[in-house]
Amino acid sequence: MNEKVKLLEFRINCSEDGYLIAIENSKEIPFDIKRVFYIYGTKEGIVRGKHANRESRFVLISLAGSCKVRTHDGINEEFFLLDSPEKALYLDKMVWKDMYEFSKDSVLLVLTDQPYSSSEYIRSFEEFLKIVKG
Ligand code: TYD
Repeated sequence: MNEKVKLLEFRINCSEDGYLIAIENSKEIPFDIKRVFYIYGTKEGIVRGKHANRESRFVLISLAGSCKVRTHDGINEEFFLLDSPEKALYLDKMVWKDMYEFSKDSVLLVLTDQPYSSSEYIRSFEEFLKIVKG
């Protein structure tokens, strides 16, 4: 099993009124959340992400609509469809990610364990491969 890229499934609290999912640091999310951002209004045909992070780990949750994610850890390339708030994609540090095929109503929530720092981004796939392959 790939430990660097994992699908997570959340416990749903069902009631007659509807659904609720709760996520807590170090429980449902395998790190301490330091930053939250969300991606929405992505135009048709756009690919977002296109980077790896030296330090940050992420959990991606599609709160509304859907999108696809391509990941690469230097060895394995994987593809995921995020189309439900009940599942999430965990990405370790040093995982390349492309998000694409966003539906018009897509709201993608991203949780991470690091504050924002542009210097930890690797934006060239060739450079990323060189680094992970040593
Ligand atoms: P970027 O990482 O390029 O996102 P995408 O590929 O999805 O468009 O970020 C877009 C802009 O937002 C860029 O100017 C950096 C800024 N930004 C922050 O200020 N804080 C953050 O936490 C993130 C993720 C981005």
